[in-house]
Amino acid sequence: MKFSAIAGVLFAASTAWGLSTKGIQNLLHRRLPAHANDFQFWLVNVKTNDTTNDHYTVTTTKKGEILVEGNSLSALSSGLHRYLTDVAGVDIFWYIGSRLDQAPRTLPKLTDVLEGTSIVPWRYYFNTVTFSYTSAFWTWEDWEDQLDWMALHGINFPLAWAGQEKVLVEVLQELGLTDEEINSYLSGPAFQAWNRFGNIQGSWGGSLPTDWIKKQYILGQQIVGRMVELGMTPIFPAFTGFVPRNISRVLPNATTVTGGSWNKFPEIYTNDVFLEPSDDNYALLQKSFISTMQRDFGQVTKYYTLDQYNENNPYSGDTEYLRNISRYTWESLKEADSEAVWVMQGWLFSYSASFWTDNRIEAYLSGVEDNSDMMILDLFSESSPQWQRTNSYYGKPWVWCQLHDYGGNMGMYGQIQNITQNPIAALANSSSLQGFGLTMEGQEGNQIIYDLLLAQAWSSDPIDTETYFKNWVTTRYAGAKSIPKGLYTAWEAMRTTVYNNTDPNISTAVTKSIFELIPSISGLTGRTGQQGTLVTYDPAVLVDVWKLFYQAAQSEKSLWNNPGFQYDIVDITRQVLSNAFIPAYNNLVSVYTGNSPTAANINAAGKALITILQAIDNVLSTNKNFMLSTWISKARSWAPSSAIADFYEYNARNQITLWGPNGEISDYASKSWGGLVSSYYIPRWEMFIGYLNSTAYASYNNSAFTAELLTWELEWNNETSRSTYSKPGNLKKVLTEVATLLSIAI
Ligand SMILES: *[C@@H]1O[C@H](CO)[C@@H](O)[C@H](O)[C@H]1NC(C)=O
Ligand SMILES: *[C@@H]1O[C@H](CO)[C@@H](O)[C@H](O)[C@H]1NC(C)=O
Ligand SMILES: *[C@@H]1O[C@H](CO)[C@@H](O)[C@H](O)[C@H]1NC(C)=O
Ligand SMILES: *[C@@H]1O[C@H](CO)[C@@H](O)[C@H](O)[C@H]1NC(C)=O
Ligand SMILES: *[C@@H]1O[C@H](CO)[C@@H](O)[C@H](O)[C@H]1NC(C)=O
Ligand SMILES: *[C@@H]1O[C@H](CO)[C@@H](O)[C@H](O)[C@H]1NC(C)=O
Ligand SMILES: *[C@@H]1O[C@H](CO)[C@@H](O)[C@H](O)[C@H]1NC(C)=O
Ligand SMILES: *[C@@H]1O[C@H](CO)[C@@H](O)[C@H](O)[C@H]1NC(C)=O
Ligand SMILES: *[C@@H]1O[C@H](CO)[C@@H](O)[C@H](O)[C@H]1NC(C)=O
Ligand SMILES: *[C@@H]1O[C@H](CO)[C@@H](O)[C@H](O)[C@H]1NC(C)=O
Ligand SMILES: *[C@@H]1O[C@H](CO)[C@@H](O)[C@H](O)[C@H]1NC(C)=O
Repeated sequence: MKFSAIAGVLFAASTAWGLSTKGIQNLLHRRLPAHANDFQFWLVNVKTNDTTNDHYTVTTTKKGEILVEGNSLSALSSGLHRYLTDVAGVDIFWYIGSRLDQAPRTLPKLTDVLEGTSIVPWRYYFNTVTFSYTSAFWTWEDWEDQLDWMALHGINFPLAWAGQEKVLVEVLQELGLTDEEINSYLSGPAFQAWNRFGNIQGSWGGSLPTDWIKKQYILGQQIVGRMVELGMTPIFPAFTGFVPRNISRVLPNATTVTGGSWNKFPEIYTNDVFLEPSDDNYALLQKSFISTMQRDFGQVTKYYTLDQYNENNPYSGDTEYLRNISRYTWESLKEADSEAVWVMQGWLFSYSASFWTDNRIEAYLSGVEDNSDMMILDLFSESSPQWQRTNSYYGKPWVWCQLHDYGGNMGMYGQIQNITQNPIAALANSSSLQGFGLTMEGQEGNQIIYDLLLAQAWSSDPIDTETYFKNWVTTRYAGAKSIPKGLYTAWEAMRTTVYNNTDPNISTAVTKSIFELIPSISGLTGRTGQQGTLVTYDPAVLVDVWKLFYQAAQSEKSLWNNPGFQYDIVDITRQVLSNAFIPAYNNLVSVYTGNSPTAANINAAGKALITILQAIDNVLSTNKNFMLSTWISKARSWAPSSAIADFYEYNARNQITLWGPNGEISDYASKSWGGLVSSYYIPRWEMFIGYLNSTAYASYNNSAFTAELLTWELEWNNETSRSTYSKPGNLKKVLTEVATLLSIAI
């Protein structure tokens, strides 16, 4: 007998006759030990199927305890979160961590019942690539923070990729492939997401060590165990069909096709071999993969993530072919797990819209003959929704997702209107909409925008964002003796500007700073779309916000030591300086292309750029969340030897810079990090200024400069920093220097 998702939770719970609330109590012990005994959790009218919404109530008992009742574990943690944020005024955040221990010594009593009902049964989390852009090198402690954050924010449907390579390797070994053949297929620690998608294969700069596979497997088991304990239904990987090239050696008669080439990668690293689902071996491998997943990670889910054509078009556009592919794939899943539900990222339909015409989508989806056996993630719903043109995916259940961020880019950005109004409109218009979710490529600084959509999953009307921001600010700076009014004013100013982009012609996602791009005299400014460089608001607004922040800490000194405040003022300063870089850059270009482009004039204009970049590096280097050394030292910490640590560091450096052995998608996942600005971007701009002062405009040759630069970039990628991370600098001192630099009166 197969376990359903609910039965799976039962299986994992400590009592045989019901769900255990032990996971939530453990969370309290971790995060709020002083109040661990002040809460009671009761499951009532426990939901028995995956289409029921979650419901909680929170009250104070006669004995003064806070009683949370709910129909699921996720309802209980959502009710707990509601009390903690709205009543106790505390929360848990990405990067800055849990601030729940700042709750009042005596917990406030409730006079009224707090009550909440979700408007969708599922709250989905993660993009396949988040596992590479953000969590590639996370430790178990990082995951514990993240999973507590997820549980409290009502997430009940997360992807669970970590550790899958161990399973894949075992399945391929059973088939008779050698370790060398398998290893030649696997990608490095920072690039596994695209290997899992079948976009790339193999590893440059070194090969994936067995030690990595083993350690990630153990980590993956811990993650899944905790997800289940906290009431989440993990989504497991499945066998996709992508296999090592030498599959033909062990299965000489197998039907395979070669996938497309991805971006500008050389053939050796792309064009993955795809075993056609119609081949008898496909179902056998699926069965082997899924039974190994269940054996090693538990029979805790019936949901499987499976993407065959992400940024990789099918071999044929013939509708019968497409329908066959999905029908055989679906049958393979059902043979392996009779309850299986196929979860698919819908990105292909937006990214490859010219291939994926409506009738091809319909054909591909129709191969899954029972609608309830599939779940589509409408991946970029806030800007490029596909559910309307596909008539709600022709009846398949789907999830309204906010993507918001590409490549872990760091600009301040948000669309408060589209993420509150559009999901509500969709719910009214589509009966197969079953969840809201977050599918960012990387987690970054605009957390409020992610929190907002998750909150929207519990409100049948579009949330009043003015009130929402106010409450969020209160919890964000919990622990400060008081929260100056200026901080509320500052966030209100950001709500209506920075976080209220409505124009897709300007931008559809987090913006990028132009200094993170390869220097050039054209093409950097004015970019629109997914990694746009156009600032979507009046930059002066953010300077005012900066002043309000600085003044707030001057009037309330405890803010200088408040981690929420420290994080935000660094992020805002980063953005203010990035915005100031644009006119300085424009000036350099006009000096160079103008009437007196002397070396001295070019150098003077160029020096202004370097000064701003140095200031950016200084401010970022005050906070470990904005430092290159944090990323690198975490990567190195996974390695069993210094040679392997050097390979992990190469992976870490390469992903955020060249992204590929020779800059195949250079700067896609660029970061504004202390240590990266000073060691990578500043030298690039200095070389550019040097190129300009020695090259007449008439002879300017961008490809010549870029080629020269690549030689240096490749060397930087090979550098190793054996030191642990650098000590952060003094924030207040750096901020006064920034004020002087930008002539801001403080
Ligand atoms: C799911 O359970 C609810 C009650 O919790 C019930 O109303 C609904 O009909 C059930 N749906 C299915 C598909 O079983
Ligand atoms: C693939 O198989 C061929 C023999 O058919 C062998 O020469 C080659 O080394 C194998 N490739 C790898 C990566 O092991
Ligand atoms: C492959 O097909 C050929 C011709 O049909 C057959 O002779 C051979 O036994 C098959 N090999 C395997 C491994 O099935
Ligand atoms: C689709 O699969 C059927 C067998 O189920 C087969 O007869 C048909 O030729 C296949 N069509 C294509 C285009 O692959
Ligand atoms: C907001 O959503 C609407 C409706 O889907 C869309 O037309 C618009 O382009 C979106 N705005 C942005 C900035 O993407
Ligand atoms: C409602 O759905 C239909 C069909 O799926 C679509 O044509 C229409 O644009 C949708 N309306 C809104 C407001 O999204
Ligand atoms: C967001 O921008 C739109 C378009 O300019 C405007 O209509 C709306 O009032 C703005 N919302 C807020 C909260 O500023
Ligand atoms: C975006 O540009 C298109 C084409 O120029 C125009 O039709 C549309 O009105 C613009 N959208 C906004 C919100 O300005
Ligand atoms: C050109 O600029 C570079 C980088 O700023 C500088 O090192 C160099 O001295 C300058 N050369 C001349 C001739 O001014
Ligand atoms: C520009 O530089 C590239 C690369 O060095 C070279 O191939 C090309 O011929 C140059 N173009 C001109 C117009 O000199
Ligand atoms: C970087 O290191 C690799 C060895 O891992 C070497 O093959 C390559 O030549 C080095 N590149 C540079 C530019 O130093």
